Amino acid sequence: MSNLHIRPVRKAVFPVAGLGTRFLPATKVMPKEMLPINDRPLIQHVYEEAVEAGIEEFVFVTGRHKEMLEEHFDFQPELEETLQSRGKTAMLDKVRSSEIPAGRLFLTRQPKPLGLGHAVWCAAKLIGDEPFAVLLPDVLVHGTPGCLKQMVDVYNGTGGNVIAVEDVPRGETFKYGIVDTGGQDADPQLKAMPVQGLVEKPAPEDSPSTLSVIGRYILQPEIFDHLSAFETGAGGEIQLTDAMAKLIGPQAFTAMRFTGQSYDSGSRLGFIQANMAYASQDTEIASDVRRSIIEFANMLKEKDQTNAAAE
Ligand code: G1P
Repeated sequence: MSNLHIRPVRKAVFPVAGLGTRFLPATKVMPKEMLPINDRPLIQHVYEEAVEAGIEEFVFVTGRHKEMLEEHFDFQPELEETLQSRGKTAMLDKVRSSEIPAGRLFLTRQPKPLGLGHAVWCAAKLIGDEPFAVLLPDVLVHGTPGCLKQMVDVYNGTGGNVIAVEDVPRGETFKYGIVDTGGQDADPQLKAMPVQGLVEKPAPEDSPSTLSVIGRYILQPEIFDHLSAFETGAGGEIQLTDAMAKLIGPQAFTAMRFTGQSYDSGSRLGFIQANMAYASQDTEIASDVRRSIIEFANMLKEKDQTNAAAE
């Protein structure tokens, strides 16, 4: 395929209709995507990753009780006036960085939780006939450049569909979409590999590899033809992975090992790890955070040693 035929990725879909049951009761009223990692909510980290990758239009697939998400990205005149009048310009810049410019935020709803494939299908009319990205806000990737930017760089060479992948322990394949690369993934240095198959949440003994789909996708609009069939797969849900599998062959399909560290911020452990990672690299608080983490770790170690000695 010549580069002339590779259409730019201008739009991104953010599936944000999920209930966030893993964080109840914190998420009883507040959307899980508003949980803060360091100084900004999860959704803003993922939005910034998309902006860095050149995305211009942002499509949120929301559900009931998710209004706070659109408020977060809106202009807040009273807050800005107050910060301005107090001369808090650094804070004002931070607030402004969370505003999506006029005409670039689009909202659609997923009325029922029928699966990730169904959530993406709900954005079909807003995407139209062009390639687009999907970013799952539960997963944060800490890296420079960001994961989606790395994928766009690969896409500019390959065209077609690109998904970000990483190795997981074989015992955990049942939690993820898993890629079949025909054995090419044996070389961990290999960054981009053609995909031969995709399976959603296979049992460890049936899994074609241990390369998991992390939740960053660049997809061609033909995916909607397959999603429109509303076929259910793993867990009785309409799976994005199953529709993607149907694009393999007719279209280029590439798995990309990203550079960086992923965090499942939708889990309690991943959330705490992500907070430590982001805060310990934030120049405003990095040295205090690092010192606190080390002090805390030493304190835990001492306690463990005292407990062990007492047994
Ligand atoms: C979804 C996708 C799965 C992917 C995972 C990444 O699963 O269906 O293919 O590996 O996200 O987090 P979920 O976590 O929604 O069950």
